[in-house]
Amino acid sequence: MPLAIQDFFVPLLFFSSIASAATVEHVFQVKNVVVKPLCKEQMIPTVNGSLPGPTINVREGDTLVVHVINNSTYNITIHWHGVFQLKSPWMDGANMISQCPIQPHNNFTYRFDITGQEGTLLWHAHVVNLRATLHGALIIRPRLGRPYPFPKPYKEVPLIFEQWWDVNIELLNLQPAPICDAYLINGLAGDSYPCSENRMFKLKVVQGKTYLLRIINAALNTHLFFTIADHNVTVVSVDAAYTTPYVSDVMILTPGQTVDALLTADQPIGMYYMSISPYISANSLAPVPPGHDIRSLIVYEGAKSTASPSMSLLPSGTNAIPTAHRFSSNITSLVGGPYWTPVPEHVDENMFVTMGLGLDPCPPETTCNGPLGQHIAGSFNNRTFVMPETISLQEAYFYNISGVYTDDFPDQPPMKFDYANFSVRTESDYEMMFPERKTSIKTLKFNSTVEIIVQNTGIISPESHPMHLHGFNFYVLGYGFGNYDPIRDARKLNLVNPQMHNTVGVPPGGWVVLRFIANNPGAWMFHCHMDAHLPYGIIMVFIVENGPTPETSLQPPPSNLPQCTHDPTIYESPTTNVDLSS
Ligand code: C2O
Repeated sequence: MPLAIQDFFVPLLFFSSIASAATVEHVFQVKNVVVKPLCKEQMIPTVNGSLPGPTINVREGDTLVVHVINNSTYNITIHWHGVFQLKSPWMDGANMISQCPIQPHNNFTYRFDITGQEGTLLWHAHVVNLRATLHGALIIRPRLGRPYPFPKPYKEVPLIFEQWWDVNIELLNLQPAPICDAYLINGLAGDSYPCSENRMFKLKVVQGKTYLLRIINAALNTHLFFTIADHNVTVVSVDAAYTTPYVSDVMILTPGQTVDALLTADQPIGMYYMSISPYISANSLAPVPPGHDIRSLIVYEGAKSTASPSMSLLPSGTNAIPTAHRFSSNITSLVGGPYWTPVPEHVDENMFVTMGLGLDPCPPETTCNGPLGQHIAGSFNNRTFVMPETISLQEAYFYNISGVYTDDFPDQPPMKFDYANFSVRTESDYEMMFPERKTSIKTLKFNSTVEIIVQNTGIISPESHPMHLHGFNFYVLGYGFGNYDPIRDARKLNLVNPQMHNTVGVPPGGWVVLRFIANNPGAWMFHCHMDAHLPYGIIMVFIVENGPTPETSLQPPPSNLPQCTHDPTIYESPTTNVDLSS
């Protein structure tokens, strides 16, 4: 049962002239509603009054049109997480990067084609913290007449994991963000929490049938383990890219990742828990969330309602990092499957990017709660990204407006140091703790192949950060711990069947090697998908230059693209008071 009434979910289908491609149209009413997942009523912004928001179903090749009507008190953008946005970079919904936000009482229509990808993705607000309650599934099925590259499931079931705070959402801007009060599965907290004992997501299954679970981690800040008692699942896709079938009893999803997995109801008739639990990879800073598993239930047809469900143990303690690493690094792509393309061998742009936390000097006469009495900052090659404030970065690029950003994001950190085992030994080590605040971008030639080694640093605290790239999937050629070794580790990279992702968890104190082809002109964010780290500035932006033809060039923005009419800082709080009783 959803938390509130879903009053406006009318997908309209218009068949266009292209055989089998359709236009799928939705209306997203963004409005504040009162919900009560635990014991307390709380007002939250929602799409169409439901949590999670409406599921969008399309087929590959369709055009998606979403009319966003902002009746909330917040500035909003909606991002279509993982959608390539080929030829539609103005529709990416990245606040202050691809557009200014849609202000309260304003509308904007997103319109784009979904081509060259199939599987489960998500949509979410792309203004700090609002993603907590403004998110939903975006499911891309094959074109009519095209099969899945796996046996057709009996039924498909979205499973959306969410994080819940029993506070007003703008309080989440506090740094560090407060500890969450609960986790939800499809909007329900289940029997681990007070006042929600009888509200647990239940999946009814028929013995012998196979179900496709479309799993989405929509949590703001937490990687989550997922497991089903007494059942293995077969992973067939991650981030809407098909994988070699991979059988597992546990999986890990970082914020923003999705997994499609087949579940066969092959156990004795009964009830079985499906559980999630947070994966805490940081040793000190991370707030420790509720220390128990969050449950939903599989109920076999014919099961006695008095039977007690089977449970399973989720990884924790010293077990957590190796379990997460095993699952993440074992996935491979389905070579020869739909949309598979071989890894480009030649690399045009080589980048080595240190990533993690750092410090921002505490202003005089103030008290700061971060380490060494300073503020926490994010660091990418020793830069903290500062959001543009007057115009979106993509507009500044398109209209050639100077003073908004600089084209000097470095390909290397300013100095070499012991990245993974950082400790302050010299003056310059100390300086490395204070990244420079700048809006700097990296320019890429159209169709160039880019390799990025992301090296997680131990500055402040090693922690797994989920890095998300807008506009592209990347190959993940390798994962490892410690400092990346360009000789020893380069030999072990997978150039044959590496997994593809739009979001990758960089191991705590470790590295990943990514490769992508910059075939989509526009401005594209690459950032940590823990929302708490967005205001810290663990963000960079790629600008992909135009190709040789108008077809491969950035076109003018739509005339109704929202304008920044006043200071659109991402921390903006409500502009009007809303009556809680309404
Ligand atoms: Cu799912 Cu830039 O975000």
